[in-house]
Amino acid sequence: MIENRFARRAAALSTAFPAPHFPSELGPDVIPFDSGFAAPQLLPDLTSFAQAALTEHREETLQYSATQGQPELRAWIAGLMNEDGCALSPENILIVNGAKHGLELVCRLLIDEDDAVVVTAPTYFSAIPIFRSFGVEFVEIGQDQDGLLTEALEQAIAARRAEGRAPPKLIYNVADFHNPTGATMSEARRRHLIAIAEREGIFVAEDTPYRRVRFEGKTIPSLKALDPGGIVLHLGTFSKLIAPGLRIGWIAAEIGLIARLIRLKSDGGSSPLMQRIIYEFGRSSAFPEHVERVQAVYRERRDRMVAAVRRLLPEARLSVPEGGYYVWLTMPPHVDGDALAARAAQAGVNIIAGSQFFAGGGAYPDNGLRPTHHVRLSYSYATPEQIDEGVERLAAVYEPVSA
Ligand SMILES: Cc1ncc(COP(=O)(O)O)c(C=O)c1O
Repeated sequence: MIENRFARRAAALSTAFPAPHFPSELGPDVIPFDSGFAAPQLLPDLTSFAQAALTEHREETLQYSATQGQPELRAWIAGLMNEDGCALSPENILIVNGAKHGLELVCRLLIDEDDAVVVTAPTYFSAIPIFRSFGVEFVEIGQDQDGLLTEALEQAIAARRAEGRAPPKLIYNVADFHNPTGATMSEARRRHLIAIAEREGIFVAEDTPYRRVRFEGKTIPSLKALDPGGIVLHLGTFSKLIAPGLRIGWIAAEIGLIARLIRLKSDGGSSPLMQRIIYEFGRSSAFPEHVERVQAVYRERRDRMVAAVRRLLPEARLSVPEGGYYVWLTMPPHVDGDALAARAAQAGVNIIAGSQFFAGGGAYPDNGLRPTHHVRLSYSYATPEQIDEGVERLAAVYEPVSA
């Protein structure tokens, strides 16, 4: 009886508690290629910054804070983004509790039930339940090594128009070192995407947690930097650059959007203690050194994983990501990624089946490939030795699956 008292968004939710997925809960024998956690040795020592925050800034850090966020932190973030080609002031920044929280707020601002939202196929799997809880219709658009297929997007919008259906409300995209594919959108595609969004009046949520986790290659302007008209809401986070446990990120957008988002942000303000710690760390000389270490450690792990996959899983295709945390394997059509992930878990290596990254309802390319022909491997948390061992375990269970 109580079952039908839930909101529509909650009615279909599983009542099973989520399975443990923290690497520390899994025991030393399990290799976590499923984890987007930071490498433990890259978690910075923030003790002195925390101490300063709790002494010199006690009143600020232990009281309620302004909903928009700490002004100095906002100014620092605007400066970082301006060095990266944007033209923002601190008023354009809203501090949030991580990028996922930012995305949820963007949905609260823009999305009504049954609105259409464009996502790539595949897309970031934690974005899918956020959109789903707002009752969206997914419009899945394919991607290749140059990112979202903007011509396919144009066609999808035109097809909706021909059917008398409203255009999508939002385009969600991870343009840099995509999760899960690792692909980085080309500048030409970025410009095309912005042109489409402007012409059609569709907001773009640019989710870019890995932007500074670049190992090589030329930095490509962010969507926000290519956005003269203010159609882009940029989601930033310190999760991948400093530490995910701090739970601090930001939205960069036009002032009129930020003002509305402040009204919708009903959490009493993101933690002023964490904001102060990040700001003090960020403006210290330790920060640029830290970013260099992050890039060096993940570059080494990326290289190790790519080499191991090429050596031990020659059937799997992969494109080498220029940054980020993930490699995306595409296997021949006779190999089932869901089955491979299940067997890998039994063999003590956790990976994520590619099918988890598809929102559903899309028309997949006519090349025989389906969501089940992929798996995602993360190299951020596993040590170089675990990377070799994990790919060996994967190769051992790959044979029986592919036979
Ligand atoms: C595309 C993408 N967005 C957002 C996040 C998480 O951001 P946050 O920890 O700031 O919520 C991740 C982490 O894996 C991610 O891959």
